[in-house]
Amino acid sequence: MNFQDVLQKSKGHMGPWCKSCPICNGKACANHIPGPGAKGTGTVAIRNYDAWQNVFVKMDTISETNEVDTTFQLFGKTFKYPIFAGPVGAVDMHYSNELNDTTYNDLLVRHAKEAGIAAFTGDGMDDQIMISATRSIKENEGIGIATIKPWPLEIVKEKLDLVKESGGFAFAMDIDAAGLPFLRSFVPPAGRKSVEELRKIKEESNLPFIIKGVMSVEGAKKAMLAGADAIVVSNHGGRVQDGTPSTASVLPEIVDAIQGKMKIFVDGGIRSGTDVFKALALGADGVLIARPFVNAVYGDHEEGVGILVRELGNELAETMRMCGASDLASINRSMVETPKR
Ligand SMILES: Cc1cc2nc3c(=O)[nH]c(=O)nc-3n(C[C@H](O)[C@H](O)[C@H](O)COP(=O)(O)O)c2cc1C
Repeated sequence: MNFQDVLQKSKGHMGPWCKSCPICNGKACANHIPGPGAKGTGTVAIRNYDAWQNVFVKMDTISETNEVDTTFQLFGKTFKYPIFAGPVGAVDMHYSNELNDTTYNDLLVRHAKEAGIAAFTGDGMDDQIMISATRSIKENEGIGIATIKPWPLEIVKEKLDLVKESGGFAFAMDIDAAGLPFLRSFVPPAGRKSVEELRKIKEESNLPFIIKGVMSVEGAKKAMLAGADAIVVSNHGGRVQDGTPSTASVLPEIVDAIQGKMKIFVDGGIRSGTDVFKALALGADGVLIARPFVNAVYGDHEEGVGILVRELGNELAETMRMCGASDLASINRSMVETPKR
């Protein structure tokens, strides 16, 4: 079975909006929220996908070695590939109630670890989501990254206690969830955070802190000031603000400004191992892939995630082999033609 077979199997299980497209490019789900679409015009997710298609890899097969090594080290852990399953919350609302956040995260975290990577888990208005996500992470020896919404500090602290209890090796906050309408109207509301508040969260946690949802050099510098260990260059797949640039187009300037002082991950429309290579060539340390993992889990609860990870990893290794890279550190910007905005 390959990932296209898993996608076929997922058809009819994904709810009314996800069509299990052969390529998840944001077109069919457009602006359906609830659903996996993007906000407003629904064009940002499409732009994210298209931008990677405008980065081209340059072949060079004259090399001293034929071996390629995709091993990825992060915060003292070793992974098979520089790929994470991205956080997706409220799956029963956005997809179908064949799974809920508890059953989805249980499957995702376990199978991601088995496949040699780690999964991020999402958060939501129901307290049970973080409770069950951190339980899954605990059951998988801390290999999973809980993503906390930008709640008021007292609530963040409660969720951090769960993260610490789980032994999670790092945690994240999707700072851009400030743009989710249903969170702003929640009592107490989730919203923007100051550098000082983020610094307090980092100190309180005593764990590597990943700030997800940074789209500018200014934002990246503020995350660094707050003591973040990593950022995810992300526009939340277009779900929090219409009219933003693609993640691929802002990544290089953020990488150049940060100069290796923080880890930089990127997500949004990354759909193949070749796209992963492009992201690394533009300076990312690793990538998150979100929507395709939902199809993987719904399509085949036991095999889907492993099949997707294996395909992505093989494509990454193949692109490295074809473009003159032997390990992740040797992938660099000269190996791609960069996008024009
Ligand atoms: C239905 C849905 C729910 C999501 N929930 C979360 C969430 O709870 N926390 C979060 O940080 N990101 C969330 N995201 C954003 C993804 O993690 C990711 O940033 C975005 O989808 C772009 O990646 P992709 O193009 O590979 O899907 C969600 C995305 C979708 C489609």
